[in-house]
Amino acid sequence: MAEITRFTQDDLKPVLALYRRVFGADAAEANRLRWEWQYRRNPCVPPEGPLTWVAKEGPTVIGQYATMPVRLVVRGQEIQAAWGMDVMVAPERQRQGLGEVLFRTWDQNVGAALGLGLSESSYRLFQKMRWPNVGPVPVLVKPLTRRALRQPSWPMWANRLVSAVTLPLVRIVSRTKPLRAEVEPVSRFGDEFNGLWERLAPKFDFVVRRDAPYLNWKFFEPPHVRYNHVALKRGGEVHGYAVYRHLHEPRGRVTQLVDFLVDPGDELGLKTLLRWIDREARNADSDKVRTVCMHQEFRRIMRRSGYFQVKSTVEFTAKINAVEVTPDFYGRTGTWHVTLGDSDQDR
Ligand SMILES: CC(C)(COP(=O)(O)OP(=O)(O)OC[C@H]1O[C@@H](n2cnc3c(N)ncnc32)[C@H](O)[C@@H]1OP(=O)(O)O)[C@@H](O)C(=O)NCCC(=O)NCCS
Repeated sequence: MAEITRFTQDDLKPVLALYRRVFGADAAEANRLRWEWQYRRNPCVPPEGPLTWVAKEGPTVIGQYATMPVRLVVRGQEIQAAWGMDVMVAPERQRQGLGEVLFRTWDQNVGAALGLGLSESSYRLFQKMRWPNVGPVPVLVKPLTRRALRQPSWPMWANRLVSAVTLPLVRIVSRTKPLRAEVEPVSRFGDEFNGLWERLAPKFDFVVRRDAPYLNWKFFEPPHVRYNHVALKRGGEVHGYAVYRHLHEPRGRVTQLVDFLVDPGDELGLKTLLRWIDREARNADSDKVRTVCMHQEFRRIMRRSGYFQVKSTVEFTAKINAVEVTPDFYGRTGTWHVTLGDSDQDR
């Protein structure tokens, strides 16, 4: 019978070795690069160390559940929560109930257990355990060039045909529009972003605390990815921010709007940030802008700004333990703010 204990420094080597066996050499290398930042430097990590559990048979590590602690605001109440991320069981021990024990250990130790971008096996396990399934989180795309609608799985002639047919529409939605407020690059999230967070947190029924320490850790300090950051300002006061990056994909270049925060009632503010992203995307020669967004008002504004909702595979589960919520809470996600910047989805 395996024993479940809280991670200690002595477990690091065997955990990294197990990671290599389960996920392969490339993923293990990427995990090693991220590990210190992801599991130790997070400002929400408790003083005892990473919020990770390991399963051992004697001295041998045969499983782990590594999580990312965050503060979560649920209908005005702030609670401790954790995104579940690197969960694994040694291949020869899978399908014997150990995964379920690890999931339950995590759940019993947090105010809310959250999962985003689940693998097929963990999605099935969440279903088996009858956890609330609130996903998938919608994905939206704004085409900027005729290459935007290309699909890696289609033959070239089909891609060319679709590009030609949709070009007039792409030209209309990708027109440049004027900015309606100041947008300034951010070199570090300062105190004014704590003020922004305090003002905006009550506007959402579900949102991870996006204060300056969190934002700096999440979007300035990761060793594996570089972001661009801008603030929306009016008369010197911060009214929002956006975090984005440009990347190459098999059939073109994409600008990813990774995270943002603005008052859901501030339509002009969000539109201004989106127009800034459009310009940046064009300067970077991107074919499209892509984002992941749960909030229905934000999505409405995006659709009015030329974004289209596409099929999403970003599965999402959330189980609130620390405050009482009725089952219908999980069905009303239109006022939840969840983006690609949550959890560790943008790797
Ligand atoms: C996900 C994982 C940790 C589950 O651990 P486990 O010990 O196999 O899980 P359990 O034995 O407690 O539960 C088994 C249930 O999980 C689901 N499941 C596990 N592996 C699965 C697979 N390959 N395909 C589909 N469902 C799977 C099923 O619901 C299964 O129930 P069943 O056996 O009655 O069909 C393990 O499969 C694993 O390490 N997978 C590879 C790494 C991974 O994908 N991690 C998740 C990253 S988000």
